Amino acid sequence: MSSTLYTSIGELVTCDGPDSGTLAGVAGDGVLGIVRNAALVVEDGRIAWIGTAADAPDSDTRVDLEGRAVLPGFVDSHSHLVFDGDRAAEFAARMTGERYDGGGIGVSVDATRAASDERLRELVGRRVAEMRAQGTTTVEIKSGYGLTVEDEVRALRIAGEFTTETTFLGAHVVPPEARGDRAAYVELVTGPMLEACAPHAKWADVFCEPNSAHAFTEDESRAVLTAARDAGLELRVHGNQLGPGPGVRLAVELAAASVDHCTYLSDDDVDALVQASDTTAATLLPGVEFSTRSPYPDARRLIDAGVSVALATDCNPGTCYSDSMPFVIALAVREMGMTPSEAVWAATRGSARALRRDDIGRIVVGGPADLAVLDAPSHLHLAYRAGVPIARALVTPSGTSED
Ligand code: NIG
Ligand code: FE
Repeated sequence: MSSTLYTSIGELVTCDGPDSGTLAGVAGDGVLGIVRNAALVVEDGRIAWIGTAADAPDSDTRVDLEGRAVLPGFVDSHSHLVFDGDRAAEFAARMTGERYDGGGIGVSVDATRAASDERLRELVGRRVAEMRAQGTTTVEIKSGYGLTVEDEVRALRIAGEFTTETTFLGAHVVPPEARGDRAAYVELVTGPMLEACAPHAKWADVFCEPNSAHAFTEDESRAVLTAARDAGLELRVHGNQLGPGPGVRLAVELAAASVDHCTYLSDDDVDALVQASDTTAATLLPGVEFSTRSPYPDARRLIDAGVSVALATDCNPGTCYSDSMPFVIALAVREMGMTPSEAVWAATRGSARALRRDDIGRIVVGGPADLAVLDAPSHLHLAYRAGVPIARALVTPSGTSED
């Protein structure tokens, strides 16, 4: 087994210090567990040693990082990468005042159904490569642009070639051909579609919005989620994106790992998330507010109340065609009142929690060497140098990180 020493790390953000378990009540950089002038040893794709450069042990190979910062690889816990087709005109229309209502999803469904397996595989591969080139080492990928039994299974199979974090989203929208009979579509999703998809998925998700012709009501969403739970899947929810609604309440009631968007929350929603903070994370997706010209969620209110907050891209062709976690971090800092250290924590350890993972999102001896390196001396530069490609996944020998 060969070992590699990474040394002259200006700032090692471990997200594994004594105060790294939660954002609640931790001021300053405490959550990040920073070691300065650091070094670490990787053996066989795993972290074998962490400390200061002055104390570093001998190893077979030595890589001098020349003062760069090293962080846990970003965990993008919400994406819809399996799609074909272009909706740039819809984005342009929103920039001149059009509202997002989910109606454009049908355009992506048509294009995705028409694409070959090879084409979809190539598109997902390209998007995952873009993510790694920006520091992401774990990504969750949803189905949801197939919406037939065959097309949903196909999307999950392809997603499974790139990640173990696969999510069945047959309840993304009611597809055009099923509009006349919503109940029949919910029966399909909770019956034959779920049965065919469950072996290929770890998670199930639903787009729960009470006042949308396209998404699912509270009762429909509860039916989808309970059937999925009975089939052995863990739960996530799209909720409170387009307006106030039952998504958060339902996610907490069913002990979902995360409720995502959380743009419009009542005081009761926040209280419910505080009570459920060990179980259910609030995943904020500010790239969506950027791309839909909507108000940003109030991250400060959530963090100050004690909610477990995560950040992700939601990369999809409609509400956010960006797969950049550094962009999300910059938006969280500039537009949502998060400090740079809160945003980095929420994009790593916080999003790992939203996937119920404690092996990733932090740098710990024995853990996988899923690392991001910055062409910069500190994590502050992620927001400070917004739009500049300073972050990338660190390629480690026999590791899982690649450019
Ligand atoms: O998370 N809101 C539902 N689903 C996606 C958007 C999908 C689309 O517009 O294609 C989201 O925002
Ligand atoms: Fe989404």
